[in-house]
Amino acid sequence: MKRIVILTGAGMSVESGLGTFRGGGGLWDNYPVEQVATPEGYAANPALVLEFYNKRRRELLTVEPNEGHKLVASLEKQFSVTVVTQNVDDLHERAGSTHVIHLHGELMKACSSREPQNPDYVCTLQSPAADLKLGDIAADGSQLRPFIVWFGEAVPKMEDAIDALAGIDVFVIIGTSLNVYPAAGLLNYVPSGIPVFLIDPNEVHAARRDVITIKKGASEGMRTLIDEYFNKME
Ligand code: APR
Repeated sequence: MKRIVILTGAGMSVESGLGTFRGGGGLWDNYPVEQVATPEGYAANPALVLEFYNKRRRELLTVEPNEGHKLVASLEKQFSVTVVTQNVDDLHERAGSTHVIHLHGELMKACSSREPQNPDYVCTLQSPAADLKLGDIAADGSQLRPFIVWFGEAVPKMEDAIDALAGIDVFVIIGTSLNVYPAAGLLNYVPSGIPVFLIDPNEVHAARRDVITIKKGASEGMRTLIDEYFNKME
């Protein structure tokens, strides 16, 4: 079975109604990253940070996977697919993708504020009580915090993402500006000679020349990729 790795970013979830981070009206235009997406910001004002992610979580519970998520999931019928996502939403999973690596954490989960990466203390928040409040305690007795990789924190799943590239036949990039490392650096680990497709309605600077761009949104771009490439693979 041929192997595919798909790197996705916020653009993957735009058609579901979730915003991107950069470019007009992006999330970071409205919220200072330092205050809501760094360990220092959390230490300075945990209540503000908890509420920022509570708002995004409440919004996530109101949206659905889009056609692009579903088409990505449908590839599992023919191929071995690993989705490496920078997104913290669970829309790939809800669309049916079964192997998803979240590089930047998961909005529907919470973790220990003392040992954020200790899996023993990671828990899944169930709607509707999905809000996190001061005083909600992890199993290690520390304050529960969002299971999100903040700027400046380690990205432990990067190793799994690089391992997933071993022996792949195709690499696909959907809906990311490739601005944030180490996630954007995954492209550099794709063996030369492996076809790389990039689906994005806007120009994206990719660090390699041999990227085949499909200048469309996620759903339309995935339809094109399936019709014009995957359906013609021997
Ligand atoms: N379909 C596909 N791509 C789209 C669509 C769409 N409908 N609409 C916009 N895009 C593209 C934009 O052109 C842009 O290239 O999605 C990309 C979004 O880029 P960013 O907003 O930078 O999001 P992302 O690349 O995921 O950010 C990476 O930065 O802030 C951190 O942790 C955060 O995971 C995030 C990381």
